[in-house]
Amino acid sequence: MLFQRVKPLDKILETAAKKSLTRQLGAFQLTMLGIGAIIGTGIFVLTAAAAQKAGPGMMWSFVIAGAVCAVAALCYSEIASMVPVSGSAYTYTYAVMGELLAWTVGWALILEYAVAASAVSVGWSGYFMGLVKSATGFELPALLASGPAWSFVGGMPHVDFSHGVFNLPAVLIALAVTALLVIGTTESARVNAVLVMIKIAALVVFIAVTLPAVNGTHFEPFTPNGWFGNGHGAGLGVVGAAASIFFAYVGFDAVSTAAEETKNPQRNVPIGLLGSLAVCTIFYLLVAAGAVGVIGAQPTAAGVQPGSPEFVEQCKALLALGQQPLVCSNEALAHVLRMMNHNRLGDMVGLAANLALPSVILMMLYGQTRIFFVMARDGLLPEKLADVHPKWKTPHKVTIITGVFVAIAAALFPVGQLADISNSGTLFAFFMVALAVLILRVKDPGRHRPFRTPMVWVVAPLAVAGTVFLFINLPYEAKMVLPVWGAIGLVLYFLYGYRKSHLGRGLLEVHEEDSGIPPPVPPIQ
Ligand code: ALA
Repeated sequence: MLFQRVKPLDKILETAAKKSLTRQLGAFQLTMLGIGAIIGTGIFVLTAAAAQKAGPGMMWSFVIAGAVCAVAALCYSEIASMVPVSGSAYTYTYAVMGELLAWTVGWALILEYAVAASAVSVGWSGYFMGLVKSATGFELPALLASGPAWSFVGGMPHVDFSHGVFNLPAVLIALAVTALLVIGTTESARVNAVLVMIKIAALVVFIAVTLPAVNGTHFEPFTPNGWFGNGHGAGLGVVGAAASIFFAYVGFDAVSTAAEETKNPQRNVPIGLLGSLAVCTIFYLLVAAGAVGVIGAQPTAAGVQPGSPEFVEQCKALLALGQQPLVCSNEALAHVLRMMNHNRLGDMVGLAANLALPSVILMMLYGQTRIFFVMARDGLLPEKLADVHPKWKTPHKVTIITGVFVAIAAALFPVGQLADISNSGTLFAFFMVALAVLILRVKDPGRHRPFRTPMVWVVAPLAVAGTVFLFINLPYEAKMVLPVWGAIGLVLYFLYGYRKSHLGRGLLEVHEEDSGIPPPVPPIQ
C-alpha cells in the first residue's frame, strides 16, 4: 500500500509540457555551465583536508571520485531529460518508486544542498579572513573565526569549544546570500560567466606558478595513510579522501537539468557532463600536484581526521613551532602561493575565491528552496512554506528558514565535516537515481528518452556500486547522519506528509508553471 503512491509519469510530464524552453544550448555551453557549477570550495579549500587524509595520493582520490560522478552523471542525464521538471531526484523517485522513497530522497537532498551551502560558506570564511589578514593585518579572535571541533568519543558526539566557538564570517555570508535570494536578485548570465572565468583564471595561475616549482621528493611516500587508512578507521587513506573530495564535483547535475534546453541532447548532454567532469578532474589533478609538489602534503599524525579536536590541537602546536603545513590551512591554494613568497598572487587567488564562492552558495541555497517548494506543492510539507512574497515574488518563508539553518550549521561545524555530511545525502540521491533509471527501463521501455544512458546495464550498476562504495568510506559521523536524519524524516512523514499528501488525497494537479520561482541564472545566450 505504502509503495503504491506513485505519481503517474504522464501527469508529471503534463506539467513539463506547459513550459516550453527552447533548445539552444550546445556542447561547449553545457560544458561551461558544468564547470561553473562544479568548481568551488572542494578544490579551493578541501584540498587541505584531502592532503591530511591521503597525502599526495589524493591525486588518486580525485580520479576515483570523478569516475563515480561520471557514471552517476550519465544516469542522471537519462532521467533528467525524460522527466524535465523541477525537484530533481525527488521528482524522479516519486514517479518511479513512489511517495515514501521520494520523501526520503527529498529529505536527503536537504543534506545535499543546505549543508553544502553551509560548507561553502565556511570555505568562503577561511579565504575572507586570510585576505583581510594579508591586506590589513587584522585577525578576528580565533573563537569567532571558526566553529568548534567535533568528534565521536565512545560512539557519542563530543564537541570541543577550546579553539573555536562561532564562525562569524560564515554566518554573515550565508545570511547575505539568503537576503539576496529573498529580494529576488538573480544572477545574470553575464555575471555568472565572469565568475566562471575568474575561478578558472585563478586555478590556471596557481598551476602555472606551482608546477614548475614542484619538488619530486614531496611525493614520497605517495600514500602515507594507504588506500583505506591503514586500519585507522573509515574516512582516511586514498579512498576516504575520495569520499570527501567527491564534494568538489557536486554541482554537475546542473548539466543534466539543462538537458531540456539542449540541442541534440543525445550527443551534447554526455559531452557536456563528461567534458566538464574531465576538465575539472584535470584541473584538480594539476592543482593537487602543484600544491603537494611545492610545499608537501605534510599530514599531521597518522589516522587523525581533519576538523577533529585532536587535529586542531596538532595544528596549533605546529603553528607555535613556526610551521604552517598545507593540511592546517583554511585557504589551501592562497597558502601555497604565500609559502612561495608570492603574496600578491596569493591575495589574488584569495580574492577570486571570495568573489566566486558566494555564487556557489547561491546555487545551493536556491536548489534547496526549489526542492522544498516542490515538496510543499505536493502537500508533503506545509503549503504555507511555498507562499510567494507579493512584492519580491520569491518563496521568502522557505528561503529565510533555510538560510537561518544554513547559517547556524556554518557557524558551528568545520568545512570538511559539513562537506562529508553533504556527500552522504548526495550519494544517497545519486544511488536512487541510478536505480530509478534501471527500474524505468524495465517498467516502461517504450517511453521516449531524449537521452539514453549508453550501456545502461553496465553504467547504472557501476553508479550504484560506486555511490555505495564512497558512502561506506565516509567518516563514521558523516555516515551516521544519514540514517539519523532519515529516521527524523520518516517520523515527520508519517505525522504530516502521509496524511496531507495531495496524491494520497486523490488530488493530482497539473501546474500552470513548473514552479513559481524565477530561475537564478537565465538561460545562457
Ligand atoms: N562542487 C562544489 C564545491 O566544491 C559544491 O564547492
